[in-house]
Amino acid sequence: MADNVSFPPSEYCTTFPRNFLWGAATASYQIEGAWLADGKGESIWDRFSHSVGTILNGDTGDIACDHYNRMDADVALMKELGLKTYRFSISWPRIFPEGFGQVNLAGLDFYNRLVDKLLEAGIQPFVTLYHWDLPQKLQDTGGWANREVTSHFADYAAVLTKHLGDRVSNWITINEPWVIANLGFKTGEMAPGIRDEKMALQVAHHLLLAHGKATQALRADNPNAQVGIALDMRPTAAATKSPLDREAAEKHWSREGRWYLDPLFKAYYPPDIWNEYGALVPRVKPRDMSVISQNLDFLGINYYTRTVMSTQGQVKKIPGSKYTEMDWEISPEALRMLLLDISADYKLPPIYITENGAAFQDKFNEQGEINDDDRISYLKDHLFQTRLAIEEGVDVRGYFLWSLMDNFEWALGFSKRFGIIHVNYETLERTIKKSGYWYQNVIKTYGFPSEKHEHDRLSAAAARRR
Ligand code: FCB
Repeated sequence: MADNVSFPPSEYCTTFPRNFLWGAATASYQIEGAWLADGKGESIWDRFSHSVGTILNGDTGDIACDHYNRMDADVALMKELGLKTYRFSISWPRIFPEGFGQVNLAGLDFYNRLVDKLLEAGIQPFVTLYHWDLPQKLQDTGGWANREVTSHFADYAAVLTKHLGDRVSNWITINEPWVIANLGFKTGEMAPGIRDEKMALQVAHHLLLAHGKATQALRADNPNAQVGIALDMRPTAAATKSPLDREAAEKHWSREGRWYLDPLFKAYYPPDIWNEYGALVPRVKPRDMSVISQNLDFLGINYYTRTVMSTQGQVKKIPGSKYTEMDWEISPEALRMLLLDISADYKLPPIYITENGAAFQDKFNEQGEINDDDRISYLKDHLFQTRLAIEEGVDVRGYFLWSLMDNFEWALGFSKRFGIIHVNYETLERTIKKSGYWYQNVIKTYGFPSEKHEHDRLSAAAARRR
């Protein structure tokens, strides 16, 4: 838990606990490129991005940031930034080109070298097993809609812990099951591009089950493994105080948030929503809920924005609010409220913010610098709200900035830049942005200077707790 940090009245600063884990995050398909290198199999994102009309401007992740071939230099940049930890994901089809069966040692070797390099640089690896790039061979037999995939996932987890578990202790099973199920299988805007609501709910169940089975597999070989899942969380606010708007907001949160949190932390699906779904509900076998709900070592939260609901549906533009390039409302306070609310509603393990960050239009100035002050203020405001939540009793252990570098933003291709390192997609040259230097300083000094009123809010929160 938080060290006792005192706030000197003369110099105002937001200070984090000394052992707070500062990191940055990426995902395999978004940065690696090398889509056919060293025996890698095709993934659903290779197939999807190679299909006409799926990705903005016809972009693909074939080369992306070419991280696969530039890993040494990228780790050197992480070291320069002073990262304590780095969250990356493993490409399943590099390890199992067919999804299961024969392990591709050359693919495994890449992650072996990455882990070694990170440790040499004093950076803790934080490994995500699944960040959306399913082997296409598994999709050919139904992908996540096929229950067998949950067992293949556990076998894949077992292979990774066997080869990396001596050096990796932190594991995230699945990144954002809501996005996979809803955008991959209901709206079809992401791979594998299917539009079938009933299938999407079955997929969501299989993802949770796969998470549970992988958790068991990781721990079987490596009892000290620290295991969690990363959930995308958009807390939902009502557009007005009217009871009907509030009801709409509650319902939305139940469908998107509770549908994942309840199974994981209470071992059931929200009964009200289950009833509403009627014939759409997934097939659940008797032991599934206990496999899904075993104790976790941490919960990962990916937070970018909130959702505002009225009886008419989602309110897209809130008067007075600012938006990022993704058209996502900037709402740092909602992060704090989310942390407090879910801590009150569930018995949670320690929390990591496993993703948070913003896309803006970055421009080089004449000196060849990117002064991304809007990103810095986004990050600062979200970190401040996180610090406030810690002060109010939420056990947040670390923060992973999305993203280490600009990368392939899924269906939006290279059009959106989230990095604190700029990537030139022609030359693949990297340039640390002002936000990168700002973050470097945050890590070095355990926080950042803040305004008096922010300092006062932290002190008041601390006093409330005492
Ligand atoms: C999250 C994804 C991540 C990235 C950010 C912007 O939903 O997990 O890969 O695309 O959004």
